[in-house]
Amino acid sequence: MFRIGMLGTAAWLAATAAASAQTAVERGSYLVNTVMSCGNCHTPKGAKGEPQADKAFSGGLSFDTPGFKVTAPNITQDPETGIGKWSDADIKRLLLEGVRPNGVSVAPIMPSAFYKVLTVRDLDAIVVYLKTVKPVKNQSPAPVYLTAFGHPEIPNAGKPMAEGDLRDQVKRGFYLATIGHCFECHTPMVKGQRDFVNDYGKGGFKMEGPWGETISANITPHQTKGIGAWTDAEIKRAITQGISRDGRRLRPPMDFGAYSKFTEADLSAIVAYLRTVPQKE
Ligand code: HEC
Ligand code: HEC
Repeated sequence: MFRIGMLGTAAWLAATAAASAQTAVERGSYLVNTVMSCGNCHTPKGAKGEPQADKAFSGGLSFDTPGFKVTAPNITQDPETGIGKWSDADIKRLLLEGVRPNGVSVAPIMPSAFYKVLTVRDLDAIVVYLKTVKPVKNQSPAPVYLTAFGHPEIPNAGKPMAEGDLRDQVKRGFYLATIGHCFECHTPMVKGQRDFVNDYGKGGFKMEGPWGETISANITPHQTKGIGAWTDAEIKRAITQGISRDGRRLRPPMDFGAYSKFTEADLSAIVAYLRTVPQKE
């Protein structure tokens, strides 16, 4: 047991060292395209729901709720219809606070609340990568706001994580699951609100789209209601291939295509973290 544990740690450290040898653009691309799956909302989809790579990030899903009707807008470098004119500081403010350069807040569908925990280096890398996104001209519909809204607070994720914390496997898993906004979909919405303290990871959130209706699963370590009895390999397969423990194919909107590119070390960190989440039923 001890030896296996040691080997695991060595492999883990090697993987962490490899990760830090990435350039800022590579790190930014991995964050945007894999961990944070920005394209799941911001990239238009074809008839079968497949992302349209040639129009990547030029505007995607629409959300029609009692409080607002919004579309994930064009975030390519097009100066007129995208964010080509935004400064680095503008982009960072939007990501961390959900506030546009004109001072108007974005609806909380945009998961800014989950991004406050981004390390300074990762936030920089995301901005560097976004600046390399090919400009695509596409005017997204203007948002309509019907009621006032706030952005939720995510427990223990209100400020940037220290770089050193990413070397701790469970903390790294918490970090990745947070910026991957896993718990946005996996926490139920009750009367338009989520209780991230009491219902964190409980599942039961209903999502409708072109794929039909899906209800998110309980991903806490509860033995029968959650994924407590699953092996690490089964959890990893669900995240990266969209196959449940019983072999059932999981349905959108979880972005299995993006998650299929997770590094093995990051997947292991996420699983290690999920095992520490308080059980819910
Ligand atoms: C769950 C869906 C979703 C995800 C994931 C998501 N966004 Fe958004 N984003 C939106 C929506 C919807 C809006 C517009 C909300 C509104 O109009 O009030 C938005 C707004 C924005 C804006 C403001 C653009 C403008 O013109 O006002 C930027 C920039 C942005 N997102 C970047 C990102 C980046 C970068 C990521 C990944 C790190 C990301 N988003 C992930 C849904 C999402
Ligand atoms: C955009 C919403 C969304 C996001 C983001 C999301 N999920 Fe999911 N997830 C779902 C839905 C919905 C299901 C159930 C699909 C079904 O039953 O067909 C699911 C299923 C799962 C399952 C399988 C559970 C079971 O009982 O079959 C696991 C494990 C899982 N998600 C983990 C994660 C992790 C870890 C993350 C973050 C890296 C994540 N999810 C991000 C919506 C999401």
